[in-house]
Amino acid sequence: MSLNKKYIDLFANITSKGAISASNFIGKKDKISADQAAVNAMRSELNKLDINGKVVIGEGELDQAPMLYIGEKVGTGHGLNVDIAVDPLEGTNFVANNMPGGLSVISIAEEGNLFKAPETYMNKIAYGKNLPNDAIDLDFSITKNIKNLSDATNKKVENLTVCILDRPRHKDIINELIKLKVNLKLITDGDISGALLVTNEKYNVDLFLGIGGGPEGVLAACALDAFGCKFQGRFIFKTTNEVERAKKMGISDLKKKYNLNEIIKGDSIFCATGITSGDLVDGVVLKDKKYLTETLVTHKHSSMTKIIVKEIL
Ligand code: FBP
Repeated sequence: MSLNKKYIDLFANITSKGAISASNFIGKKDKISADQAAVNAMRSELNKLDINGKVVIGEGELDQAPMLYIGEKVGTGHGLNVDIAVDPLEGTNFVANNMPGGLSVISIAEEGNLFKAPETYMNKIAYGKNLPNDAIDLDFSITKNIKNLSDATNKKVENLTVCILDRPRHKDIINELIKLKVNLKLITDGDISGALLVTNEKYNVDLFLGIGGGPEGVLAACALDAFGCKFQGRFIFKTTNEVERAKKMGISDLKKKYNLNEIIKGDSIFCATGITSGDLVDGVVLKDKKYLTETLVTHKHSSMTKIIVKEIL
């Protein structure tokens, strides 16, 4: 048994159901209910699948979340052993405020192949394919990364675009980018989408960087792997509680920089269904009593990266 193509449709169905449930809360200014609706739908659909699944990234640990918590077993228990990462509602503000970019997201890998990320921030960097492996590094200065990117892509610095979350913690980075005359794509939320903008020239983003959620970093890495793109991440632990939780999860080197192949190994599937329309996919549409959903799917072993449209009653 392997994570073959037949699973792609099954998992796209899971995120579609999550997205449809969350879509009932678009513009309702209620992040919690929107998230809960997506969690409930995804969990109930996952439990119908003939898989022996374990949540490695979810809504938190058991003491923080009763559903889709880290370590929860999902599926009927019969079938392929898989590790699952979920973000049932990525971009809670987007859905609550009826803004572009809300997604329902899942990643699946065979047992033991998906990194168990703690609920902390992560410093991340992602860039596209066809670039030398050593051109960009999380530990290089912003200026060095930009100069190297300019050389590697044959683009002038002022024609490069960098995507970054618009946060006070990024003030120095943003100022350095402005000084370099790089084009900015500032995002208010949703850094899974942000990272995935390096996957295709049509998005006109050359580099994604900055600090965002660790779980979101792992989910994005899974799709970036299938696209042949590059990613590095380093967790940031601020409190002793975060350090304790990380140690319990088996992370001994708290300062370690992770490369893509240490975050996701082997075959994998990634599905991200739009709740509200955004850069990657369109949002849920209700038409003639049927829901239409758009899902970005990737499958590592078949090098498949495509958008599938589903009609759900
Ligand atoms: P939620 O969907 O959980 O609200 O997360 C949205 C998000 O923007 C993520 O995409 C990102 O990784 C994280 O929040 C950034 O965190 P913060 O808002 O604390 O900067």
